[in-house]
Amino acid sequence: MSADQKRKSGIFLTAMGHYVPDNVLDNNFFDSLDIGSDAQWIVDRVGIQERRSVLRPEEIRALRFGETTREDLIQAGRVMTFGQMGAKSWELAMKRSGLEGGTLKAGAVIGGTSVPDSDIPSHACYAARDSNLKTGYAYDTNSACSTFAVQIQTMRGAFAIGAATTGAIFGAERYTTRVDYSDRKGCILFGDSSYATYVEDAPRGKCLEVIDTMIESSPEGADTIRMLDGKSFEQDGQAVQKFAILKTVSAAQAIMERNGLAVDDVNWFIGHQANLRMLMSASQRIGIAPEKHLHNVAFHGNQGGAGAPVTMSQNWDRYRHGEIIVMSVVGSGLTWGSVVFKVHDGNR
Ligand SMILES: CC(C)(COP(=O)(O)OP(=O)(O)OC[C@H]1O[C@@H](n2cnc3c(N)ncnc32)[C@H](O)[C@@H]1OP(=O)(O)O)[C@@H](O)C(=O)NCCC(=O)NCCS
Repeated sequence: MSADQKRKSGIFLTAMGHYVPDNVLDNNFFDSLDIGSDAQWIVDRVGIQERRSVLRPEEIRALRFGETTREDLIQAGRVMTFGQMGAKSWELAMKRSGLEGGTLKAGAVIGGTSVPDSDIPSHACYAARDSNLKTGYAYDTNSACSTFAVQIQTMRGAFAIGAATTGAIFGAERYTTRVDYSDRKGCILFGDSSYATYVEDAPRGKCLEVIDTMIESSPEGADTIRMLDGKSFEQDGQAVQKFAILKTVSAAQAIMERNGLAVDDVNWFIGHQANLRMLMSASQRIGIAPEKHLHNVAFHGNQGGAGAPVTMSQNWDRYRHGEIIVMSVVGSGLTWGSVVFKVHDGNR
């Protein structure tokens, strides 16, 4: 495919929104779980100070001490659903862009989550229903923490074959409902959040053009980060740390190189929000100046596949016409990917 043809299958994120739950868990909260967690260890090793959860602190304590179960909380309607979180993010996307959510059509709706509410239907159907979106077709692509890059590449494909000229992408993560609260290594890492974006085949107002996407996998690492059916999150932390830094760097560098971008051409960099220390190390290796590095892990924790797109949405008002954003994400699979966006601002 020539460069021109590639650009023709480009897509524009013409609206973007996010949502984070109200319940704040600071590092001292984990002292009350009696697991030997040290607030200073968390700040020093992962750079996380707070995270948001769909669960209230007292519900997490009840989980830890065996007074309730995840299933009980779901049954009691205490866990926000994918559709509810998607609709909250969509509401912000519509408000910001001035688009009329109720009248919009999305030819393709792509959902994605590592923590589903059910095996079927696809969660794109839940999100589209709860956001009152008229859709052509709706389906999910889940690739754990690299989901957003995969969703964008998949959407580019739908536009490229003429299957859609409009679309919506939704993601919501609720890892705080899938961690073992007796394990100090794992439970302090995660937070919950969601994102939504509307996609069109031409620019409109302030929007992000997708210039290029790249996704890759190494399935021999399939057991390195897992969440088995009915079980909690588990990972080989040290192995993952090495992989995550190396691939965050190489995925960013590869996509920059093939688009002729030097590090000085990049205005903003966003990585997978797993660990602030790791992100600092990766961004320094790429050569990104600290003021160009956008992150939210310090106050939102690791939000799985939602971390990078939520960071992107939280900084929406800072982007200026012509700027370049590079996103690089890594995750279970093992998988990694990167995206280059260009800011258009028709309102400037
Ligand atoms: C998970 C991670 C933060 C752990 O950091 P680490 O430096 O590897 O630390 P370890 O797990 O080896 O633990 C070191 C010690 O700190 C302890 N520790 C862990 N959590 C602690 C806490 N909350 N409070 C106090 N001590 C803690 C451990 O128990 C261990 O003690 P021990 O030696 O007595 O057993 C780090 O490996 C990491 O960020 N990995 C990458 C994660 C990632 O990118 N995931 C992406 C996919 S979602």
